[in-house]
Amino acid sequence: MVVLAALSQTFKVLDVTSPTGTMAQTSLQWLIFLTSLLSSTTNQASLTVSPSSSQMFRGQFVSLSCEDDSSAGWTLRRNTTRDTRTQCGADWGISAGSSCKISYVVPEDSGVYWCESREGATSNSINITVTDGPVILQSPVLPVTEGEDLNLHCKTETSSNLPAGFYKDGSFIRTEPAGHMTIHHVSRSDEGLYKCLISSDGESPSSWVSVTEKPMTTVHFPLVFRLVCHLVVFCPYCISTLIMVSLYRHRTTGKGLPVATVTTSPTQAEEGLDDEYENDITAVTREHHF
Ligand SMILES: *[C@@H]1O[C@H](CO)[C@@H](O)[C@H](O)[C@H]1NC(C)=O
Ligand SMILES: *[C@@H]1O[C@H](CO)[C@@H](O)[C@H](O)[C@H]1NC(C)=O
Repeated sequence: MVVLAALSQTFKVLDVTSPTGTMAQTSLQWLIFLTSLLSSTTNQASLTVSPSSSQMFRGQFVSLSCEDDSSAGWTLRRNTTRDTRTQCGADWGISAGSSCKISYVVPEDSGVYWCESREGATSNSINITVTDGPVILQSPVLPVTEGEDLNLHCKTETSSNLPAGFYKDGSFIRTEPAGHMTIHHVSRSDEGLYKCLISSDGESPSSWVSVTEKPMTTVHFPLVFRLVCHLVVFCPYCISTLIMVSLYRHRTTGKGLPVATVTTSPTQAEEGLDDEYENDITAVTREHHF
C-alpha cells in the first residue's frame, strides 16, 4: 500500500514536471522490469503427490503436480531403476497442465520424482515405492520438520486398522494395535528407513523419512529471502519518489523559475503576471498534497 501510494505520487509529479518526465518514466519502466525479473527468479516449484504417501499398491491412481507462483513451464521428471530423467507425457504418465497422472501404477514406477524448469531449476524430490506385496507403510512424502509429529500408518489393501509392528533401520520399535504410530516432536535422530509388519499379511517395503532443521533456518528462509529481494526492488522506487518530490519542491518553492514560466517568454513577465503564476503553482501544489 505504501509503495502504491508512493508510485501514484511519483506519477502526479510527472504530470507537472514534464521535461524530466520522460527520463523518470524510462527509469520507472526499468524498475518495473527489474521487479518482474526478480520475482520470476524467486519462484520455486514444489512437487506434491496425491494420495500423499510414499508407498502405493499396484493399480492405484496417482497424481503428481508442480505447484508454482507463476505458470512457468515446469516438466515432471523421474529416475527409476530402469531409466533416468524421463519426462511425464513423453515417456510415462499423462501430462495435464502442471500435473501428471498415472492411472495404474506398477512397481516399475518406483523411483524419485521431481519438477524441472527449462532453465534447469529443480523442485523438491519425492520418493515413491510401488509394491506388489500385501502391506504398505504410509509415511510422509515431504521431510518432517524438527519438533513436529511423524505419523506412520501401516495398512493392507482392504484393511487399515490391523495391529502392526514398526521398525526403524531394521530395529523393532513397537506394536500399535490399530496400525497407526505417531512419533511426537521428532528430532534429527528420528530420520531413517522405516518399515512395518502386519503378522497376518506380511511386511511393507522400506521408506526413507527425512527430518529437517527447525523453521528459523529452513522453512522461513525462502520467506526472508523474498522479503529482502522485495525490499531491494522497492528501495529504488522509494528513492526515486523522494528525488521526484524534492525536485518538484525545488522547482516550485526554490529560487529557480517556476516550471510554468519556462514555457512562456520571460521578457513578457510583469510583476502581476509572476504573482499569478506563483498562485497557480501553489494551487497545483495543494491539489497534489505536497
Ligand atoms: C537422476 O539420475 C541422474 C543420472 O543418474 C542423476 O544425475 C540425478 O541426480 C538423479 N536425480 C535425482 C533427483 O535423484
Ligand atoms: C529417497 O530415498 C533415498 C534412499 O532411500 C534417500 O537417500 C533419499 O534421501 C530419499 N529422498 C527423499 C526426498 O526422501
